[in-house]
Amino acid sequence: MTDSIFKSKLPNVGTSIFTKMSLLANQYGAINLSQGFPEFDVPDYLKSRINEAIVGGKNQYCPSMGLPDLLHEIGALVQRCYIENETRKMDALHSVTVTSGATEALWVAFQTIVRPGDEVIVFDPAYDSYEPAIELAGGRCRHVAMSAPDYAIDWNVVENTINHQTRAIVINTPHNPTGTLLVQSDMEILQKLVLKHDLYVISDEVYEHITFDGLRHESVLRYPELFMRSMVISSFGKTFHCTGWKLGYCVAPKALTDEFRKIHQYVTFCSFTPAQFAIAQMLKAHPQHMDELSGFYQQKRDVLVSALQDSRFEVLPSKGTYFVLVDYSEISDLNDVEFCHWLTKEIGVAAIPLSPFYQADLLNEYHQKHKIVRLCFAKHDETLLKAAELLCQL
Ligand SMILES: Cc1ncc(COP(=O)(O)O)c(C=O)c1O
Repeated sequence: MTDSIFKSKLPNVGTSIFTKMSLLANQYGAINLSQGFPEFDVPDYLKSRINEAIVGGKNQYCPSMGLPDLLHEIGALVQRCYIENETRKMDALHSVTVTSGATEALWVAFQTIVRPGDEVIVFDPAYDSYEPAIELAGGRCRHVAMSAPDYAIDWNVVENTINHQTRAIVINTPHNPTGTLLVQSDMEILQKLVLKHDLYVISDEVYEHITFDGLRHESVLRYPELFMRSMVISSFGKTFHCTGWKLGYCVAPKALTDEFRKIHQYVTFCSFTPAQFAIAQMLKAHPQHMDELSGFYQQKRDVLVSALQDSRFEVLPSKGTYFVLVDYSEISDLNDVEFCHWLTKEIGVAAIPLSPFYQADLLNEYHQKHKIVRLCFAKHDETLLKAAELLCQL
């Protein structure tokens, strides 16, 4: 088959920047602070439970929507973390669906909501899976830029971008790659816009349990009216250091969940059964794990940030996730992709450039204004200190 007769559905998509930088890090033996995966193993309890599930024969298909015990535990977690009003009860059996990672949940959510010709608003820098999933559902992204140093959303620009084709808004909080959080006033404005313009929200909350300095995660699940028009997506990979298990979930009102499940069953039918048994038990036996995660990662952030204090990098505030942005304008004139290649090959530290998170149209302006890269601090202290020592030499 030649290019001339095969027309790609995603002509602008190549190998992701995460894959590229991790390959380069391996090739040059660099410390890999690029791709966002934890250097730590999964908790022992969880390892024993998955082992038990596999040895005990829990290896066949489970219900497409997810194992009932796991649905129940996710419902209890949501209720405990986000629903203060006791009269509002999570109906997990009808509003939670277990998926093969947040990536599948995002894919199915876009397929559920977006129809051919619809527009979907995304905020740049944006996680890379949104746009292809929106396009393959027949939609088109409208990119609204968030700008350094605070990466706040300008809701006036959002309202001016909304037109009769706008179907949905994608939010991501805590935010990858910037480490920023949406606050209560953002959610209140979002709720107003969504109700006024009859829109839907896809809320990517995979770092929901990683916020710092006592800041509260503003989940869509806290806002009943907003939730009625939303799909909230999370990932156990981030919460339990098991990104390779690819287990996540979507919480949505019953009507949206019914549609979501129709598509999910034909994408994968069900997700990895042994991990569902193990995580259901982990959620029940160790609810404190979620409560301790912010403290665990705040310590990691602080190790890296204080080790970079005497460097020529300007460290931007990280309020959540396991990422921090650093500005290298005092060190180099290279653009961020060139700088990351140079840093990996010559200095031995791999980072992620920010420009691949921006739409092409916004890029020129971005490159002129910013010299910023992302570092991942989901690493052992020794790894962070070794990387910082190299970075401080610049
Ligand atoms: C913002 C964001 N959304 C979704 C995902 C995908 O999560 P999963 O590995 O569970 O598919 C990631 C993973 O890095 C992410 O950072």
